[in-house]
Amino acid sequence: MLPTIALAALALAPAVQAVPHHKRIEPITSPHGVYKRCGAVSRYYGQHTADWDTYQTGDWLNNWWNSHSSLMGNNTGGFSGAFGQWAMGNPDWSCRDDGSDSDCDLSLCDNRVLNNRGQDIRNTYYILESVNRLHTYFIGIGEAFTTAALGAALSKDSWATTFYTDKDDKSVTALKEALNAVATIVGIGASFAGLAGPLTGAVAGAGSALMGGANGATSSIVGQHTDDSFQKSADLGGLLGTIVTDSLKSFTTANNQLMGGQSYSNADIRTYISGGAFLEYEGVDKNAVTDAMTNMLIGTSVNQLYRTQKVFVMGGGACGDNQGIGSGPQEAVVCRDGKAWYLYYWQENDVISTTSHQWGWVASPPGADSLGQSEYSGVTVEDIINSSLDAYNVAGYGYNADTAKSRAEDAITNAWANPGSEGAAWEGIFTIPVCDIGAAVDADYQDKEYILQPYGHDSRPVWCGAICGGDAQKTKDFISAANMDGFESPKHLCDQDPGY
Ligand SMILES: *[C@@H]1O[C@H](CO)[C@@H](O)[C@H](O)[C@H]1NC(C)=O
Ligand SMILES: *[C@@H]1O[C@H](CO)[C@@H](O)[C@H](O)[C@H]1NC(C)=O
Repeated sequence: MLPTIALAALALAPAVQAVPHHKRIEPITSPHGVYKRCGAVSRYYGQHTADWDTYQTGDWLNNWWNSHSSLMGNNTGGFSGAFGQWAMGNPDWSCRDDGSDSDCDLSLCDNRVLNNRGQDIRNTYYILESVNRLHTYFIGIGEAFTTAALGAALSKDSWATTFYTDKDDKSVTALKEALNAVATIVGIGASFAGLAGPLTGAVAGAGSALMGGANGATSSIVGQHTDDSFQKSADLGGLLGTIVTDSLKSFTTANNQLMGGQSYSNADIRTYISGGAFLEYEGVDKNAVTDAMTNMLIGTSVNQLYRTQKVFVMGGGACGDNQGIGSGPQEAVVCRDGKAWYLYYWQENDVISTTSHQWGWVASPPGADSLGQSEYSGVTVEDIINSSLDAYNVAGYGYNADTAKSRAEDAITNAWANPGSEGAAWEGIFTIPVCDIGAAVDADYQDKEYILQPYGHDSRPVWCGAICGGDAQKTKDFISAANMDGFESPKHLCDQDPGY
């Protein structure tokens, strides 16, 4: 055995030594596997995202682009065909997905054209890798956005009956509202699939192009389906699945246009690969992307159903309560920055009664007990509270599909969050109306010790005043957003009209 090992070690030795001493020495792999000594280009293997900017690859590419327009115009593959010809002597390197013989393989090893490019080898190599990996991204995203996973999670007969109990059946209309969010969610999924590492300013331009491209691709598809028959909740999964899959055809178009050097949704390939976003890209993490999108779509659908019922988030007092304004359900609380926030549902009494039960009681929202497990394991009560609070802090009760789109774009473009990584907890997936009762601690509302109540058949909150933010208008707006206009229950004990 020993001689074999020794031989193997000897065989590896030259390759290891080929890495210059000033370079980081770490296991080096090219996308096609093992490290090989491939001529001068080998010196630049082991590239990192930041190298793109360090070696001014963006400027280099712009110069190349501007001085090779005729080469690009002459090649049927446009940009990538021309670049493949210039960089590797391969004019068929078109990286298109159209069933033609074109390819996107990198034949770098001992490639004479490339290895004779002298000072340009590094930048040329970074661009070849990035274009190749961007192509991998477009192929991978097609596999992540399959109907199978989404359909299984969303096609459920029990969908509306689980999360919806109101007497009048608004659930079909409510679920259809979820369609307004699909394009943004697909965009979030597409950028999440492309941004492998942490979101930084350098790759934000690429992320925003990914988001914008997917958003554009999906919006037009949603438009084609809004009039489809949509009779029951089970159709939602099928419809969302169709929209997501149809969007994929647009991703193929996106790939082909970008590779050809054209723009797609206002950005060309230079934006997509800017900042080295694809320089060390390892491919789409399909499970992570599918999970994130499924959870965001489930969350959006549950939110739409809850938004037609008396579901709300109330809190803003100290964690642990004990401030004279009652105490909330400890099974549905998030403690954030020292303040406790609770998820509530005001259940109406469903039998005729002359006792105080006629006013209903507060309980866990319909279906909330099935969240966090089995098919709904990726969506929790905590997600609902966090996501709603973030949305409320941004846009009060007016957070809508347009807000969601612009906030997700802003998060990626300005690199302050990677929405996909937050799944259903991402801001605005839930927009349950929030009432901040912190100011009630120092106010003298009648029966204020019953503002917060735990869940239970005998739990009836009493709100005799401007309990939300200590502000009459805010309280009115909250009551309205929570579907409690004209609902007498929370004021049934008040001696005076509380003004909402
Ligand atoms: C592009 O094609 C034209 C016409 O055939 C030719 O004159 C020109 O030299 C070509 N340009 C390049 C860069 O190959
Ligand atoms: C909700 O927010 C709290 C406080 O910021 C945080 O500790 C918690 O992890 C969040 N929960 C989820 C599910 O994101």
